[in-house]
Amino acid sequence: MTEPQQHTSDSRRPDATDSELLPTDITAATTLVGLIGWPITHSISPQMHNAAFAARRMNWRYLAFPVPPERVAEAVAGLPALGLRGVNVTVPHKQAVMSHLDRWTPAAEAIGAVNTIVVDEDRHLSGDNTDAAGFIADLRAHAVDPAGKRALVIGAGGSSRAIVYGLAEAGAHSVTILNRTVAKAVDLAATMQSYFPDICMRSAPFPDDVTASAETADLIVNCTSLGMEPRIEGLPWEEDVEFRDDQIVYDLVYNPAMTRLLQLASTDGATAIGGLGMLVYQGAIAWEAWTGEAAPVDVMQRATNIIFDRA
Ligand code: ATR
Repeated sequence: MTEPQQHTSDSRRPDATDSELLPTDITAATTLVGLIGWPITHSISPQMHNAAFAARRMNWRYLAFPVPPERVAEAVAGLPALGLRGVNVTVPHKQAVMSHLDRWTPAAEAIGAVNTIVVDEDRHLSGDNTDAAGFIADLRAHAVDPAGKRALVIGAGGSSRAIVYGLAEAGAHSVTILNRTVAKAVDLAATMQSYFPDICMRSAPFPDDVTASAETADLIVNCTSLGMEPRIEGLPWEEDVEFRDDQIVYDLVYNPAMTRLLQLASTDGATAIGGLGMLVYQGAIAWEAWTGEAAPVDVMQRATNIIFDRA
């Protein structure tokens, strides 16, 4: 009887064949963009952006760079030095990068965070926050116009800042922010009120105020992590508060595709939208800023659907 083969340190991968040695079009002329964050291993941005480059037959690549907090300044300074055209920025660096940039957009200023850095022709570094515009673009892709809507935003963390800014800039009638830690909702409402004096900003405690706030809301947006894998039982709502069929419920959580919140909304006949489209559009806007070309949004959408097995 033969013994099962031992996997030892001597076992090596088989040598590549000649045709595998020059497998791609990565050359000295390849243009590089990417992502900095810490940690970064779960990001799907590399696949999504590289799918777009492949679709357009562009000799560009998008790589993920894990950058520990103490090396953010060096990493940002290195972007123009190495000839990168730009990077996306994710947690925990979205605020920290700002002091290392030459300029940033009014959106990044008001949100207080940068998720996209562009290395300009003159090698200056410009910051933007494409989360707000990405969210609004996805709403519009679902035929929802935020203008004039009475919005109810659950959560007052980093993503909520971008959503509230996006809604206000797109002309929402009012924005009510509910948060477990109500002081953060109060602070966010006050900050955004200073940028948008004509829009009615309110804040109230979550979940106590869900019942009252739900009554007047046209558009409800979950910006908390409640309901996200692996704790899919989380619900940023009150179980017994029903949705109306003229309400739109948008969940920034995109994994699972059908969160408990969206299930309840959908059962009650409301319009239920998951957050994967916002991820695609915030990426597409960054892609356009780097390349100067219109992004193949459909390809990026397809790539994310394949990754999450929703094809
Ligand atoms: P992000 O960048 O995704 O917005 P964040 O800044 O950490 O993440 O914000 C998380 C948000 O989810 C906060 O509004 C948080 O409420 P608190 O400010 O009270 O912490 C909210 N959140 C997270 N877990 C929650 C829970 N179990 N119940 C209610 N709200 C929760």
